[in-house]
Amino acid sequence: MTVKTVLLMGHPTLRQVAEPVQEFNTPALNDLIADMFDTMRHLDGAGLAAPQIGVSLRVVIFGFGHNPRYPDAESVPETILINPEVRPLSDDIEEGWEGCLSVPGLRASVPRYAEICYSGFDPLGEKIERQVSGFHARVVQHEVDHLDGILYPQRIRDFDNFGFEQALFGHEN
Ligand code: NI
Repeated sequence: MTVKTVLLMGHPTLRQVAEPVQEFNTPALNDLIADMFDTMRHLDGAGLAAPQIGVSLRVVIFGFGHNPRYPDAESVPETILINPEVRPLSDDIEEGWEGCLSVPGLRASVPRYAEICYSGFDPLGEKIERQVSGFHARVVQHEVDHLDGILYPQRIRDFDNFGFEQALFGHEN
């Protein structure tokens, strides 16, 4: 399939609420998912949402064994999640570093629910339901936000921890 252009913050499609997928296991859906994986892997992303490649549907992918963009993160199972729902399991909030392929070069510390239950469907329409914490929970919340037109800078509380990756971390290298 194809490595697609990732839309950048400011593009109106990234601000839209995406539409639910109505039909599973269609050629169009399977092509979309293949393009999303090609694009995510090409850019070493930890996840990608369909609106980021210009398709306003409620489809996200995520997962990696080791990710060079997040070298300290624990692995996350490779997942295709369609029409997702996220429910926090407690009020605990954790701050953690995030980046986004639609916001290249920047990083911020972003508050997220520490523990969530998420559900949705795989490409065949089979139900997925998981309880997760840590980076896995963070990635899911980040990707699902994309489906509601929300990018991580809108979640930042402490703007001291928002900046260019090179400037924030470059001095350590
Ligand atoms: Ni993102």
